Amino acid sequence: MTYLFLFLIVIIFHRYQIHTGLQHSIIRASQPNCLPLENVTLPQKLKEAGYATHMVGKWHLGFYKRDCLPTKRGFDTFFGSLHNPRKQPLFLYLAYQAVHSPLQVPARYLERYKGIPNLHRRKYAAMVSCLDDAILNLTLALKRYGYYDNTVIVYSSDNGGQPFAGGSNWPLRGSKATYWEGGIRAVGFVHSPLLLNKGTKCRSLVHVTDWFPTLVSLGEGTLDEDLNLDGYDVWESISEGYPSPRQDILHNIDPIYIKAKNGSWKAGYGLWNTAIQAALRVGHWKLLTGSIWLFNITADPYERVDVSQHYPHIVKKMLMRLAQYNKTAVPVRYPAKDLRSNPQYNSGVWGPWYKDEKEQEEEQYNNFFTNHLGKTSWKDKSKNRKLKRKMKH
Ligand SMILES: *[C@@H]1O[C@H](CO)[C@@H](O)[C@H](O)[C@H]1NC(C)=O
Ligand SMILES: *[C@@H]1O[C@H](CO)[C@@H](O)[C@H](O)[C@H]1NC(C)=O
Ligand SMILES: *[C@@H]1O[C@H](CO)[C@@H](O)[C@H](O)[C@H]1NC(C)=O
Ligand SMILES: *[C@@H]1O[C@H](CO)[C@@H](O)[C@H](O)[C@H]1NC(C)=O
Ligand SMILES: *[C@@H]1O[C@H](CO)[C@@H](O)[C@H](O)[C@H]1NC(C)=O
Repeated sequence: MTYLFLFLIVIIFHRYQIHTGLQHSIIRASQPNCLPLENVTLPQKLKEAGYATHMVGKWHLGFYKRDCLPTKRGFDTFFGSLHNPRKQPLFLYLAYQAVHSPLQVPARYLERYKGIPNLHRRKYAAMVSCLDDAILNLTLALKRYGYYDNTVIVYSSDNGGQPFAGGSNWPLRGSKATYWEGGIRAVGFVHSPLLLNKGTKCRSLVHVTDWFPTLVSLGEGTLDEDLNLDGYDVWESISEGYPSPRQDILHNIDPIYIKAKNGSWKAGYGLWNTAIQAALRVGHWKLLTGSIWLFNITADPYERVDVSQHYPHIVKKMLMRLAQYNKTAVPVRYPAKDLRSNPQYNSGVWGPWYKDEKEQEEEQYNNFFTNHLGKTSWKDKSKNRKLKRKMKH
């Protein structure tokens, strides 16, 4: 069987943040940091299963050294071209930058939304329409090249909207970069002739880590035990409405966000320091710390009524579960800025800047020869480099 998986802005790893060291904030461009090289990615597994793997778009798993780049993490190409579907199945990961700040859109899309008075909101709406058109174009291409009828298209947003840049999560509480539902409840859909029940809503618990086992299984790859999956194969829940195998979601534990003045071990019944920002979902219940909040998300998806005072036994149980998860966490990787990352030292672009010892030695060796044999000054050398670059292009 050959499927094409189309993936929009979905993290391609299968473990909770606490199991990657990336539980704090994001990977910033100037940090020497990326998804640990030991961690096996979704495209790597699908490559094993015989897929051609391609990626187009935004890469946010780090790039400080070459080994971190998409083409070293399981993708055959980055900005690649389509293969012949009859020869080899294809996995395509398309990570749109839209919709995101800066809010920019072709004028003709803006025309349609004259009725929206707020300019940010108007541009945002127009950008969504433009994104729709891009996806329309993609589906037309899939049809033209004969992929469409045997394709699983997964469309997913990666987080809630940013109200400072035209986003709105109303009536959900909170926004991007918070653990309120407005930050973490992402919308998505799956389109495929392979779905048994079409046009249905899946209200089961599904987490981004579930795509890894779900798609590797669909692609007939292997899921070895030593992957220590945090995700579940949820295809039967999506396709046939079976209950999800997933009972809980660890939204995150971020031991660097300990700013909550109101939190303490005492407030956490001695089980958990509630100053630490964390969020856990178990069935109907969602617990947030950083103070302490408990919601029945099914009854109160907008998180209006904190019931932590009414259900101390549930709070204790969930704090214990957090503590259990915390025991399995790996240390946070959040390195200081590396000044060498500055594009000024890198032909004016953001790109890998970090060189390991071997690469450094090679560079010194080359410099030695340029300095001693070429007898060129530093300025000439940089001119030479520019010249070499030009000759390459
Ligand atoms: C991911 O990499 C980290 C850091 O090396 C390691 O501790 C962890 O066990 C790896 N996890 C998996 C599932 O590969
Ligand atoms: C969709 O394709 C048409 C025709 O090639 C092109 O003019 C248009 O710019 C594309 N739209 C987007 C949003 O990519
Ligand atoms: C601190 O916690 C108490 C008790 O849970 C709560 O009433 C109060 O609003 C909290 N204050 C802040 C600033 O979160
Ligand atoms: C979580 O684990 C770390 C060490 O693994 C520990 O220092 C910290 O106190 C734990 N946090 C809580 C709230 O239990
Ligand atoms: C949570 O809400 C759901 C839906 O309203 C309800 O079925 C369930 O009994 C509630 N749980 C508790 C403990 O109130």
